[in-house]
Amino acid sequence: MSEHIDSVLTETRVFPPPTAASVGMPRWHVASMQEYRALHRRSLDDPEGFWGEQARMLAWSRPWTRVLDWNPPDARWFVGGQLNACFNCVDRQVETGHGEQVAIVWEGEPVRAPSASAGSNTRNTSPVAGARGSDPEIRRLTYRDLQRETSRLGSALRSLGVKKGDVVTIYMPMVPELAVAMLACARIGAAHSIIFGGFAPHAIVERVIDAKSRVIITADGGYRRGEVVPLRKNVDEALTALGSAGHGVEHVITLQRTGTPTQDAAPGIRGSAPGFHDYHTLLDRANADCPCEAMDAEDMLFLLYTSGSTGKPKGIVHTTGGYMVYTTMTARLVFNLIPDAGQLFWCTADIGWVTGHSYVIYGILPGRVPTLMYEGAPNFPASDRFWDIIERHRVTQLYTAPTAIRTFMKWGQEWPRKHDLSSLQLLGTVGEPINPEAWVWYRDTIGGGRCPVVDTYWQTETGGHVISPLPGCTPTKPGSCTLPLPGIDAAVVNEQGEELPPNQGGLLVTRRPWPGMLRGIYGDRQRYVQGYWSRVKGPGGTALQSGGKNTGLETGAATPYYFSADGARRDQDGYFWIMGRVDDVINVSGHRLGTMEVESALVSHPAVAEAAVVGMPHEIKGTGICAFVTLKSGSGRKADDGLRKELAAHVAREIGALARPDSIRFAEGLPKTRSGKIMRRLLRDLAAGVEKITQDTTTLEDYSVLARLRETDE
Ligand code: PRX
Repeated sequence: MSEHIDSVLTETRVFPPPTAASVGMPRWHVASMQEYRALHRRSLDDPEGFWGEQARMLAWSRPWTRVLDWNPPDARWFVGGQLNACFNCVDRQVETGHGEQVAIVWEGEPVRAPSASAGSNTRNTSPVAGARGSDPEIRRLTYRDLQRETSRLGSALRSLGVKKGDVVTIYMPMVPELAVAMLACARIGAAHSIIFGGFAPHAIVERVIDAKSRVIITADGGYRRGEVVPLRKNVDEALTALGSAGHGVEHVITLQRTGTPTQDAAPGIRGSAPGFHDYHTLLDRANADCPCEAMDAEDMLFLLYTSGSTGKPKGIVHTTGGYMVYTTMTARLVFNLIPDAGQLFWCTADIGWVTGHSYVIYGILPGRVPTLMYEGAPNFPASDRFWDIIERHRVTQLYTAPTAIRTFMKWGQEWPRKHDLSSLQLLGTVGEPINPEAWVWYRDTIGGGRCPVVDTYWQTETGGHVISPLPGCTPTKPGSCTLPLPGIDAAVVNEQGEELPPNQGGLLVTRRPWPGMLRGIYGDRQRYVQGYWSRVKGPGGTALQSGGKNTGLETGAATPYYFSADGARRDQDGYFWIMGRVDDVINVSGHRLGTMEVESALVSHPAVAEAAVVGMPHEIKGTGICAFVTLKSGSGRKADDGLRKELAAHVAREIGALARPDSIRFAEGLPKTRSGKIMRRLLRDLAAGVEKITQDTTTLEDYSVLARLRETDE
């Protein structure tokens, strides 16, 4: 990678923070920049004091003896302490007398049109003129309900032999039972590995094997844009493949959501077939008494797979104490959560992504503010479904992705205009850089120009927000995630770890550990050390070497920096501007995708010899997927539109619809260096339609390839 990353974005607008009263908040947790600066300074000067204070906001069954034990790159937080994540989300609220308060407001996707006769059971899923007046299914679960349900499922899991430390795979739609399933795992000390319902059977197979998971909780299907997503069918396909791979799954629990018929046997399974259980039957028989397991702060809470720069997704490990402290603190400060103040927080992410883990469930429930879950698509039955939900439920904080905002802009402001959005107090975004135009549209059209916008930068690995405005104090600049949160020592550096002057692009690092940081990649120590701790040198030229027996540094030695794999710059005011990934990961609609994963899917098609995948600018998705493909000469297939469609469908089937390429370009050869490395930067320029290739092409092995590639437009 070159030392210098160019930054072209110039944005000069600054929006001061609104007063709490003007948005209807009782107060801001952090109300002035002076307060923020003092808090940030204190968190770095006295991290143990600061984090100890934050941790005391949770309930611990045994106090910690040390706040931090840092043996780079291994951090242990709240050493010796014990707590339970489900207890802090659920039981604690019941025990303090809030059991009857609503914890989760859930809305299903299907609606009955207003004309449908009352009491009719038939679901009319045909589009209506707008979502207003439609009649969706709504459920409200109190903390007591959650306590009962997580206890019953927890007992059921225990009776199936699930023990503390086991990994339970969850592949479900956005229904309350998904929240129950994850919290039930936490209750009994089993780690969960949630797989987003949009992923294909192959993704289930590789994650189940990697996690050594023996139990799967799923549903017959889920609703998405009026259609049924066949979740259980995908699990059945995965079970067959798992059987062939010699991996036995012992139990499959299926929730009936859509009424899709399922068979209690997956076809063609080799070896012993799993036990199949109906979710409700199992819970009806379960013991309602299921005490929360006392977990060590460093016990694994969950595994969440995310893409990296190889073809194999990595299982990011989060532990109980640090993650809970961090998500609870960041949710409270960034979203200004206040219990008993009439708030209803809505994060639109699926729980299958880290955003859903941290800010639908784990960071929100301890704050005792109800969290809204919506099952389906934003344009079902019409393009105003989100605004309709906000109006009907009186949502106060909305947290969504830039790609969604760009889609809403395209659909037009007439959809939000139909609705009363005056309940909104705060708007948040996450997942990718937001273009200033979308930021301003969000602020004005959705927030009525009143609400603060928090652009939160973070990653699966960071557990929670790391750079973000605090709504009551940070002046915001459209497109900038602004300043590091308390406890975060973020910087833009070169590979030597030297901090760069203002407005010069470089590598985004964090120079100290924080409680929410990942504790590793499941089963792959080397990838953890190499991916995050070896690239950028810390003070004194320290970077960890991967390989060998490197388990850390000598005590007292300089600390290596955590490398995010993002490029960024800091402006003259110290504001961070994220410039995107500098590895072979692309960010499609706010979702991380490894280009190698898409390449592997493409070359698994019989006609494909070689494939190279790069990102390209995309109006809605931020980054689209462009694939350069060479065909096997003997395959007998022609490079035509038919094959193009077939390959796109093949990738969607192998990985999931989110990986479907936006553009497939057939080529006779791919540009490579003499050592055989594909020159991706060159392909990126070609995909973006850059006329004049500025890349250094002197290492290109065969110049004619470049000329021919230019001719291969779609
Ligand atoms: O490139 C950054 C981008 O999303 C990546 C992390 O993706 P993932 O682990 O899937 O988590 C997404 C939700 C936290 C980062 O490396 N990213 C995330 N938030 C922002 C962002 N880029 C710019 N601005 C953001 N606010």
